[in-house]
Amino acid sequence: MCGIVGAVAQRDVAPILVEGLKRLEYRGYDSAGLAVIDRQGVMGCLRRIGKVRELEDALGEKPVQGGTGIAHTRWATHGEPSERNAHPHTSDDISVVHNGIIENHEELREQLQDLGYIFASDTDTEVIAHLVHHERKTSTTLLEALQKTVVQLTGAYGTVVIDRREPDHMVVARSGSPLVIGYGIGEHYVASDQLALLPVTRRFQYLEEGDVAEITCGKVEVYDRNGALVQHEIIDSDLDHEAGDKGSYRHYMLKEIFEQPEAIANTLEGRLTEAHVAVESFGHNAREIFSKVEAIQLIACGTSYNAGMVARNWFEDMGIPCRVEIASEFRYRKAFVAENSLFVTISQSGETADTLASLRLAKDEQGFIHTLSICNVPGSSMVRESDMAFMTRAGAEIGVASTKAFTTQLVSLLMLVVAIGRCKNRLSESDEATIVAELRELPGVIRDVLQQKEAITELSEDFADKHHSLFLGRGTMYPIAMEGALKLKEISYIHAEAYAAGELKHGPLALIDSDMPVVVVAPNNELLEKLKSNMEEVRARGGQLYVFSDPRAMLVAGEGIKVITLTEVSDLLAPIVYTVPLQLLSYDVALIKGTDVDQPRNLAKSVTVE
Ligand code: M6R
Repeated sequence: MCGIVGAVAQRDVAPILVEGLKRLEYRGYDSAGLAVIDRQGVMGCLRRIGKVRELEDALGEKPVQGGTGIAHTRWATHGEPSERNAHPHTSDDISVVHNGIIENHEELREQLQDLGYIFASDTDTEVIAHLVHHERKTSTTLLEALQKTVVQLTGAYGTVVIDRREPDHMVVARSGSPLVIGYGIGEHYVASDQLALLPVTRRFQYLEEGDVAEITCGKVEVYDRNGALVQHEIIDSDLDHEAGDKGSYRHYMLKEIFEQPEAIANTLEGRLTEAHVAVESFGHNAREIFSKVEAIQLIACGTSYNAGMVARNWFEDMGIPCRVEIASEFRYRKAFVAENSLFVTISQSGETADTLASLRLAKDEQGFIHTLSICNVPGSSMVRESDMAFMTRAGAEIGVASTKAFTTQLVSLLMLVVAIGRCKNRLSESDEATIVAELRELPGVIRDVLQQKEAITELSEDFADKHHSLFLGRGTMYPIAMEGALKLKEISYIHAEAYAAGELKHGPLALIDSDMPVVVVAPNNELLEKLKSNMEEVRARGGQLYVFSDPRAMLVAGEGIKVITLTEVSDLLAPIVYTVPLQLLSYDVALIKGTDVDQPRNLAKSVTVE
């Protein structure tokens, strides 16, 4: 949720920290701050409520400089967004930034208060600063003080600590919240996401759960939870340095919507042969595992859950039982696990707390035969902790509203369905060849749909003064209606609800009037006639329909109905294709309403807390 950057160098690190924060701002953006120590051991600390540019402006007026520093952009959990709750938090010479939640912070706060510590914020993080300060008194090194501190913490943390008296290094700890160390030449860095550090390095080492590390200009030493010195693999990032830039687009979201043809082409790249999905792209032993699989359990949150809902239809159409569940529900109930079930997490970030906790539960306590992560971030916790991983290759997604991550998840899931279907002989060779041919066409089809931007912009004007809206679909288009509603509410703040269209007369029809726009995803498929009846139910009650359809569906615009006609596509690809106009609609409505499209209120990109 929040973003962390830290650096140790022979030069002033403040510009590295600010650039890193800007690149992480999508993760949390209600306040930001940094602390920097110069060679004389003078610590400068600056915190501001609001976005990183507020901090940057403040730095312009009151520069702080030094070779060791930490910085943070916050998404409030404990304590309102305010300057006093912004990170870094300090305890005398110690300064700390932290992502995650310290669950036993109240108990620790009381103990520390009894020891005479005075708290200056309402945050859980401040206990880390005081605890490190307290432990430092009886430790020979700052690292030892951090090690003694973390064993007292319950909850999740990615934390970086500096000490004014030891200006040449920083110490870090990870448990439940990711941290990655960046390797430079004669300088080193740490961040919660490699994106923050791409301007200064492409070489990264991810910390594992329970690791602590000491970082100086000349060396990085990582210790595991047992205190043993460890060296994890140092990887070369293939993320584009420009990944964090908007280019000529007004918003990241728009850029990411328009990147979908390329993102999907990347997802497919090297994973399709002439007429097959290359099963091995899921892992060297995927063929053997998939042949044994008898059921699928999909787990995800938000947009990724909607992708899972589409995939359930695809799996079950092929006769493969599939359950899909929201991670925050799954992890707290006794779920039935069918024999030989494959556990699949779907996540853009690979760090979503509930999805990750479900994965750990599946591995440690439930009888799944294997775990697979469909994910966009290489090196993320889910990727590292799953038996198999399939990268969606959407590229960095900065806009909080998920767009290209969703469509590439769908493409990945469709490939998974095909791979398992073939391994289990549930899909004929010729049907596989047809799907593969359609997948190859997909980037071009999406390009065509993007041409409809202007027509969709016109529609969006009707929504700007509305407070509520309904989204309808049936079959695989019902989750697409869910995704459309999620996008609209998330960035335009218009209340949007999705219904399986057949449910309309069981309650929501009572809401219909001229102030309730009803968006319908209506490609020509075997459910179209049923859907048309549902649309008539809306029209008969004075509702206004906004229908996304194709020429074969023969839906004509008229009184109470506006129609956007898209390219004809197969039933299988329709969920992917029909997502795009709904993304554009939400974007345009948000633009008219003047909301913060890329960083909508109260939200953050990566939800690493429960
Ligand atoms: O990183 P994840 O895919 O696990 O994130 C799950 C949700 O938080 C995410 O999909 C969220 O719903 C989207 N940002 C909505 O656009």
